[in-house]
Amino acid sequence: MTAPPEKPPLLELDRVTRRFVLGGGLDPRRRRMVHAVEDVSLSLAPGETLAIVGESGCGKSTIARLAVGLSRPTLGEVRIDGVPARARLPRKLRRTVQFVSQNPWSALNRRKSIGHAIGQPLAVHGLCASAAERAARVAELLEQVGLPPEYAARRPAGVSGGELQRVTVARALAASPRAIVLDEPTASLDVGVKATLVNLLLDLRASLGLGYVLITHELDIARHLATHVAVMYLGRVVESGPAEEIFTSPRHPYTRMLLAAIPVPDPSRRGLVALSGEVPSAVNPPPGCAFHPRCPYAVDLCGRELPALVDIGDRRSACLRDTELLGTAATGDR
Ligand SMILES: Nc1ncnc2c1ncn2[C@@H]1O[C@H](COP(=O)(O)OP(=O)(O)OP(=O)(O)O)[C@@H](O)[C@H]1O
Ligand SMILES: [Mg+2]
Repeated sequence: MTAPPEKPPLLELDRVTRRFVLGGGLDPRRRRMVHAVEDVSLSLAPGETLAIVGESGCGKSTIARLAVGLSRPTLGEVRIDGVPARARLPRKLRRTVQFVSQNPWSALNRRKSIGHAIGQPLAVHGLCASAAERAARVAELLEQVGLPPEYAARRPAGVSGGELQRVTVARALAASPRAIVLDEPTASLDVGVKATLVNLLLDLRASLGLGYVLITHELDIARHLATHVAVMYLGRVVESGPAEEIFTSPRHPYTRMLLAAIPVPDPSRRGLVALSGEVPSAVNPPPGCAFHPRCPYAVDLCGRELPALVDIGDRRSACLRDTELLGTAATGDR
C-alpha cells in the first residue's frame, strides 16, 4: 500500500528571490540591483511560529511582503496550502495568511472608527450577512484581543499604541486566517506593553491554532514566541531550525554573534564573540559568503565560494567551515 501524500505546508516560500532595480535605465551594464532576498526557502505549519531574525536591511520585511502577496518574487514561488500564490487564489485561501505591520498608525485610517477598521475585512470577504451580524463579530474580535466593545466607536487617535496594535491584530483575525505574518509587531511599543502583546499572541496561538511568521530584530521576543527560527544575513538564510536548538546551541558564526548581543545574562552564552562591523550593501554583496568580511573564522575560501544551506539533523546551516568550527562556540578560537 502506498503512503498517503504528505500535506503541503500552510505557507511555503520555495527558492524565492526578490531584487529591486535601483536605476541605470534599460542598459543592463549600468543597472544597479538591490539583492533584498536571495534564494530563500521557508515553510510554516499550523500552530508553528517561525521567527525571522537578522540585522536591519537583511530582507525581513521583504519576506513578510512576499509571504502575504504584497510583493511578487523575482524568482521562485510562494504557496499557500500548496497552491501557488501567483495564481488567482480561491477566496478561502486569499484570507488564509494575514498581515500585521510594525506601525499600527499607518495601517489604520485616522478618520474612520476602529469598528470600521475591524469590520472592513468582514465585508470584503463576505463573512457577515448583515450589519448587525458584523457589529456583533467586531465586538467579539475586540474581546478576543482584550479590548472592550465600546472601543468600536473610537478613532485610532483615541487609544494607546499598545491598544492600537491589538486593534490591528483583531483586524487580521477578522478574516479568520490560519496564519498571521507579523512584521516587527512590538517595535513601536513600551516594554510593559510589549509583554502584553506577546502574551496575547501566545493565547491566540493556543486558542485558534494560528501559525505566525514573526519578523523581529528583538531576539528576546523571538525566544518567547518562536517554535522555529530562520536567521537571515544580507538576503539569505544562513541558519534555520527548531528555536530551542538555535537559541541554546547556535551553529553558524553569524547566529553565534547575533545571539551574543541579547542583553540577558545566560551562562550558556558566556564567551560568545560579539558582533562588530556593519552589514555590507545589498547592492554589492560581498562575493562568496556575504558574512566573511565580518566573520572571525573566515579563511580565503569563504571570500570565493557561496556556502550552501546544508541539512544537519533538524536544522540547516550555511558555513563552509561548519564541521571544523564545531566546539569553538564558547571561545572564538579559530
Ligand atoms: N521597494 C524597494 N526598492 C528598493 N530597495 C528596497 C525596497 N524594499 C526594500 N529594499 C532594500 O532591500 C533590502 C532589504 O530590505 P528590508 O526592508 O526587507 O530589510 P529588513 O530586514 O526588514 O530591515 P529592517 O530591520 O531595517 O526593517 C534593503 O537593502 C532595502 O534597502
Ligand atoms: Mg523591516
